[in-house]
Amino acid sequence: MSSTSKLGLSETYGAFINNEFVPVRGPTFAANNSGTGEQLARIAQCGKPEIDAAVLAAQKAFPAWKATQPEERAAMLLQLAAAIEADTPRLMQIDSMDIGRRLFETKLDHTIAVAEYRYFAAAAVVHEGLNRSIPNGYMIARREPYGVCGQIIPWNVPAIMTAHKVAPAVAAGNTVVLKPDENASLSTMELCKHIAKIFPPGVINVVPGFGTEAGAALTSHLGVAKLSFTGSGEVGRAISHAAAERLVPVTLELGGKSPNIIFPDIEDIDAVVDNAMFATTYCNGQSCLAGTRLFVHDAIYKEVMDRLVAGMEERVRVGSPFGDDTILSNLVSEKQGKRVLNYIDIGKAEGARLLTGGSRVDIEGHKAGYFIAPTVFEARNSMRIAQEEIFGPVLSVMRWSNYEEMIAEANGVRYGLAAGLYTSNLRSAWETAERLETGAVWINRYFNLASGSPFGGFKESGYGAELSHATLDLYTHLKSVTIQTRVDPPWFAPKAAGK
Ligand code: NAI
Ligand code: MG
Repeated sequence: MSSTSKLGLSETYGAFINNEFVPVRGPTFAANNSGTGEQLARIAQCGKPEIDAAVLAAQKAFPAWKATQPEERAAMLLQLAAAIEADTPRLMQIDSMDIGRRLFETKLDHTIAVAEYRYFAAAAVVHEGLNRSIPNGYMIARREPYGVCGQIIPWNVPAIMTAHKVAPAVAAGNTVVLKPDENASLSTMELCKHIAKIFPPGVINVVPGFGTEAGAALTSHLGVAKLSFTGSGEVGRAISHAAAERLVPVTLELGGKSPNIIFPDIEDIDAVVDNAMFATTYCNGQSCLAGTRLFVHDAIYKEVMDRLVAGMEERVRVGSPFGDDTILSNLVSEKQGKRVLNYIDIGKAEGARLLTGGSRVDIEGHKAGYFIAPTVFEARNSMRIAQEEIFGPVLSVMRWSNYEEMIAEANGVRYGLAAGLYTSNLRSAWETAERLETGAVWINRYFNLASGSPFGGFKESGYGAELSHATLDLYTHLKSVTIQTRVDPPWFAPKAAGK
């Protein structure tokens, strides 16, 4: 265990409630290195009792937290950002072992998370309600926090997901109970050690465990005033039902099948092909934003495809997350690995033409890891591999020449999270951006997530955009208070004498 003890990991982690780790008494589950299979720590398999205790702590902390000035909350978020920044060299290694993503990416995760805590520290201070004058007075609509927010996150980018949920919620004056994913809890549990030094007890509580136990208990808890979730559509629907049952608001981010469109007038084919490869392989393909449907114009099809296939084979090096020249590393779990390999079989069976990849790669010393070679299919948009979220490095390519048909296909999926397009023609860029049914459109650079850009889906990708200052609206009620300078004369005035 020398490699892990150097990283300062605890042997076990209990729920983090009221700024303390609850001693572990019940069952635990393993946090394993997803590449080597080595056990890194054991984590409490929490359920209803821990969720009840965490919600109670968050409820007790709420009145005082709500009464803090935004400036005070901002100061604490900035302290947390600085603590994560200083601790990134360690946290990124923990994530790389836990989820199998290369260090370049896990470092980026924490850098993005730091930026997000800072962004919401600033946004909290300028988040305003509404107001207008009325006859003899004024209407003021204040923003008031909901109370306890129940937040459930997935495993693909834990540092970013935690920031997506926690930063806006506490910036707006809410308290939080967060359930991390059972495949990727470690860096969030380590984050709690920083939180304990900065925030008042009970403001941010973290309860690890399985979805059907801790997750379900959090979702149905009567003390939770707002829910937010990122993950599969299936669980998102269940959470939306639970929210409807209790009439609490919910924010959902449920994945995508994003189109990435290449026009014939691009200037630098290599640079565009680079974007297409990055869109497919970032996060080892386990990103809701992945550009998994590439539409290549007929006029440059052969040139693009030759370079794409060569690039995937020669430049996307598959290896250990800790390897210096690794671009693609292992998927998070055996379950995810098998899911991706099954989709590759589905693609072959439905007649898609496999151009490269398509199989598991063995990496020395990483027997447990599911490394999948970057995979490119020539497909039709109606095929399952082009319609369903695979969550692995698998790209479906479609050839287009008729613009209207291409737009119909680009929009022809249940999802609507993101889209990319490449052109040097401003009119093509703008008109296409207007017609794409997605929450984000990136023109000439994929994954161009500027700090503050709203992040949320159309259609079955969910509802409620995160990452932007508008997110603070989703974590607050709008409460109107009207003021008159004096009481009106009586409406039911006594009739004047003699009438
Ligand atoms: P999942 O939706 O089952 O898990 C996400 C989170 O939900 C985890 O924290 C899990 O513990 C929790 N959860 C599961 N069941 C729950 C329940 N009944 N009540 C409350 N919480 C519950 O996702 P999974 O199984 O890990 O991945 C399946 C597929 O979902 C992936 O292959 C991918 O297509 C998609 N996905 C999308 C993500 C996104 O960023 N939108 C992230 C992760 C997965
Ligand atoms: Mg699941």
